[in-house]
Amino acid sequence: MTDVAVSVPPAKATPFHELEVLWVHHWTDQLFSFRIRRPEDFRFRSGEFVMLGLPGDEGGKPILRAYSIASPSWDEALEFLSIKVPDGPLTSRLQKIQPGDTVLMGKKPTGTLVLDALTGGDRLWLIGTGTGLAPWLSVARDPDTYSRFGQIIVCHTVRNVADLSYRDFFTSGIHDDPLIGAEARAQLTYYPTVTRERFQTPGRITDRIRSGDLFADLGLPAGFSPNTDRVMLCGSMAMIKEAGEQLEGYGLREGSNAEPGDYVLERAFVG
Ligand SMILES: Cc1cc2nc3c(=O)[nH]c(=O)nc-3n(C[C@H](O)[C@H](O)[C@H](O)COP(=O)(O)OP(=O)(O)OC[C@H]3O[C@@H](n4cnc5c(N)ncnc54)[C@H](O)[C@@H]3O)c2cc1C
Ligand SMILES: NC(=O)c1ccc[n+]([C@@H]2O[C@H](COP(=O)([O-])OP(=O)(O)OC[C@H]3O[C@@H](n4cnc5c(N)ncnc54)[C@H](OP(=O)(O)O)[C@@H]3O)[C@@H](O)[C@H]2O)c1
Repeated sequence: MTDVAVSVPPAKATPFHELEVLWVHHWTDQLFSFRIRRPEDFRFRSGEFVMLGLPGDEGGKPILRAYSIASPSWDEALEFLSIKVPDGPLTSRLQKIQPGDTVLMGKKPTGTLVLDALTGGDRLWLIGTGTGLAPWLSVARDPDTYSRFGQIIVCHTVRNVADLSYRDFFTSGIHDDPLIGAEARAQLTYYPTVTRERFQTPGRITDRIRSGDLFADLGLPAGFSPNTDRVMLCGSMAMIKEAGEQLEGYGLREGSNAEPGDYVLERAFVG
């Protein structure tokens, strides 16, 4: 009788991490945030996005969508800010997750809303609409942001006041952050605007740029300058297109990871 060497096939590497949900917070019936356990070997740059999702129903294919990571690169857990699309293939189910549940996450973070894609400047504008706030929650908590820029301005435009998720965080909570609290107090300005309800700074951010109200409110010289201003844009296609054209009009040039520039952009969703 001969010995037969039985070779066990190597375990197949799964394309996704399976991660425990740690915390869920519902802001409105359209918006929620959640935190998940961070795999020890998962590295990303503040501002990047990753594929996130749930297993398919009854053994079907998993459903994954792009999500900006809403926590900084040093954080122990990973946070996300999500829309709830009533008939959305992913978010109609994702909105029901609870602590202890499992979500899937891709292994390769990517994106252009990173400090590496910008050249040096004095002032960093983080301009977002709707869930386009998510990457600023990451970038605005990164110590590198405060060492690279003297002033950081987070602009968030939403339909209704209740959609201003993280308003309390940006007006006070961030000042108690153990890592960047003191820097945020000295260098960070939060500038919310609301389009479909009365508010002290009403209207779209693009309209407030055009009218000059944005700069007047902040006591800054009117307009953006390629000498001093660097900008990140995240939101609907319409906002990005319009704001991008405004920045080009001021002489700012789009950057990328391969060729850093004066501003960078990313869609907060497709459609
Ligand atoms: C680079 C990138 C980063 C993204 N980051 C985020 C994020 O951090 N948070 C997040 O909620 N979504 C984000 N999205 C959108 C996300 O990928 C999904 O579209 C969203 O989770 C809805 O999935 P769904 O399957 O339920 O519906 P989908 O079939 O994906 O979307 C249905 C429709 O809902 C609308 N919609 C989808 N997402 C949004 C949104 N975020 N805001 C407003 N309207 C929307 C669009 O009109 C879309 O056609 C991102 C998309 C891209 C491309
Ligand atoms: N209360 C609600 O009923 C409610 C609240 C939130 C979301 N939703 C639903 O969620 C989905 C996504 O809505 P959303 O509000 O997250 O995203 P959104 O439609 O992209 O709007 C977010 C903000 O961006 C503004 N905006 C749109 N185009 C712009 C442009 N070209 N330049 C500058 N700003 C621009 C909007 O202003 P305008 O208001 O002027 O368009 C709004 O304040 C929608 O399908 C909506 O039905 C509903």
